[in-house]
Amino acid sequence: MEQYIVKGGNPLVGEVEIGGAKNAALPIISAAIMTDETVTLENLPDVNDVNVLLEAIGKIGAQVERVDRHTVRINGSTIQDFSVDYDYIKKIRASYYLLGALLGKYKNAEVPLPGGCNIGSRPIDLHLKGFRAIGAKVEIRHGSIIAKAENMRGAHVFLDKVSVGATINVMMAASMANGRTTIENAAKEPHVVDVANFLNSMGADIKGAGTEVIRIRGVEKLHKTTYSIVPDMIEAGTYMMAAAATKGDIMVKNVIPKHMEAVTAKLEEVGCEVEEFDDAIRVVASKRLMRTHVNTQPYPGYPTDMQPQIAVVLALAQGTSIVTESIFENRFKYVDELTRMGANIKVEGNTAIIDGVEGFTGARISSPDLRAGAALVVAGLAAEGITIVDDIVYIQRGYEDFEQKLQSLGAEIEKVSSEKEIQKFKLRVG
Ligand code: EPZ
Repeated sequence: MEQYIVKGGNPLVGEVEIGGAKNAALPIISAAIMTDETVTLENLPDVNDVNVLLEAIGKIGAQVERVDRHTVRINGSTIQDFSVDYDYIKKIRASYYLLGALLGKYKNAEVPLPGGCNIGSRPIDLHLKGFRAIGAKVEIRHGSIIAKAENMRGAHVFLDKVSVGATINVMMAASMANGRTTIENAAKEPHVVDVANFLNSMGADIKGAGTEVIRIRGVEKLHKTTYSIVPDMIEAGTYMMAAAATKGDIMVKNVIPKHMEAVTAKLEEVGCEVEEFDDAIRVVASKRLMRTHVNTQPYPGYPTDMQPQIAVVLALAQGTSIVTESIFENRFKYVDELTRMGANIKVEGNTAIIDGVEGFTGARISSPDLRAGAALVVAGLAAEGITIVDDIVYIQRGYEDFEQKLQSLGAEIEKVSSEKEIQKFKLRVG
């Protein structure tokens, strides 16, 4: 089992290049099969979730050609099978985007019902509500969602909760339904906008993405396109928080500063200097940081995917901070791990009360989920001594070259998979 071993104490200094957004790439790969022509995707992140989904579309018959590490060509004309294997949905929940894509193009889709995951139960009732509204017959049989539509027609869909997945899935299916669909209370995340821009580059007619009302006029066919995935705002935010936690100075490159506004605002509130450029942001933390309050909200609010990372920063700040997780019901599992490093955090319901401490000490910890895992590595980088992080397979789902990018910023971190390698690292770093 691979682990990260970290020797903390070095301020992270330097530049880091941000890759394409995982949470845009996954629906865009799914939507790419909605045309019989060839789609070229650029700036794809080379992360496990993306590679598993490329495998999943290959398995149902799409042609997938890897041009280089970050570029792939997809042609969906050879798809024979409209049902996705259970082991793919088990590996990545976002395989459920194939429901919207297959329903839109073939009016026929079968995808196993995704289970919950480490951050909550994660129902998909709103996805199914949207599919039914545009005329699909949707039933759940033997653990799978079976969606069929004789003729899909546009409809008015009100999403009871702001949902990234439901907004994107319904938008995909509706882009090839007859007539007009309106999605009210839509999610406004940059990756929702990226999927709409991608579909429009294939000939779809989608307006309003990025606002709470998305208007879609269905089209008969979609055509080929070449599209570059939007930069990953969560990867960018993670490195920005790493600068804050280690009292470093990091230039995060290839980002869209506007997407980072909620994160930037919080970093400034706690005392970091943040400088914005056209496609880069510099974060400098020279002194001990101060407390603040955080409440995760749908975009443009503070992102839930950045909640564990700022909790690490606040656990080292002066004063008492409050972090409220308003999106998922179980996203504080990392707190027990942080406590083992000396953090002083009390979780009550969906709120964490964080009393900042002077510093962490390294410990053996495990990564409960993707974003918490990355946050715990950041905690190790700030800690005194050695930290070993288990279950890093979660982190590899969403962060490309995580240890290499951190090493380039001066971090003492290595991926290890044996006691011998751990000893070698300890000898080297002293
Ligand atoms: C996406 O998940 C992201 N995943 C998550 O990132 C992210 O945390 C989340 O959006 C919120 O931004 C991908 O894009 C692959 P939601 P998603 O539907 O679409 C409830 C990461 O680390 N809900 O916006 O599943 C749901 O339970 C991952 O990259 C329903 O009740 O999130 C939650 O409380 C973790 N019914 C809230 O809505 C539904 O049908 C928001 O969930 C759908 C959602």
